[in-house]
Amino acid sequence: MSDVSDPIFAKIAHRYDRINRILSLGQERKWRARGIDMLSDGIVLDLGCGTGDTDFGDRLVVGLDPVVEMLQLSPVRSRVAAVGERIPLRDGVFDGVFSAYVFRNLSSVEETLSEIERVLKPGAAAVVIDLSRPAHRLLRVLHRLGTAVVLPLVGLLFARAPKEYWYLHKSLDSLPAPEQLLSGGDLDLEAVWRSGLFGFVYGACLRKRPAAASVDPAA
Ligand SMILES: C[S@@+](CC[C@H](N)C(=O)[O-])C[C@H]1O[C@@H](n2cnc3c(N)ncnc32)[C@H](O)[C@@H]1O
Repeated sequence: MSDVSDPIFAKIAHRYDRINRILSLGQERKWRARGIDMLSDGIVLDLGCGTGDTDFGDRLVVGLDPVVEMLQLSPVRSRVAAVGERIPLRDGVFDGVFSAYVFRNLSSVEETLSEIERVLKPGAAAVVIDLSRPAHRLLRVLHRLGTAVVLPLVGLLFARAPKEYWYLHKSLDSLPAPEQLLSGGDLDLEAVWRSGLFGFVYGACLRKRPAAASVDPAA
């Protein structure tokens, strides 16, 4: 994906929050909240913020998203139109990074994780929430059949956008499980948890390593 607006999210921007609540049966705020509890106070980057519908409590928030149609709906004051793969912000400024339902849309998870590591302060946490398939093989097959029918149908009924919600169905198979996807990089994978029907929502907490203690050569 380039820095220009993505036609899929541009088209569904106005209906996005409402459909989210319908598809998650009102649970999606709860799924996000569990991750937000793991962030410390201070300045948080909401990466792929969409309409800015996430409640970060008293934290200062910078919302980043490449789709202007989404960003325009956000009540957050500090907004940046950009992709996670190239964050146009300084090193080590954030006390936390949060990213919900974005990772399946990235053109590079690796580059985005490296950018997250760069903008975090040493020792700070990043929380990723996203959808995947259930771990159990039979449940995975059932889940795939279910989303093939339900997602385009809800997209058609509530947003006249069946193709866009078919994309959502396909994207659920686009990445490996979070334990594999998020480990092995510069950020330490601290915890992975699952929520939702059959555990198809995952949350993960990653942490930037603390700054190395400086050694006094004279000592
Ligand atoms: C499913 S929405 C999630 C929005 C919001 N985080 C939420 O929880 O409601 C995915 C968002 O990711 C954004 N996005 C797509 N590609 C991106 C990228 N490469 N970097 C950052 N955000 C991206 C989309 O524009 C869209 O707003």
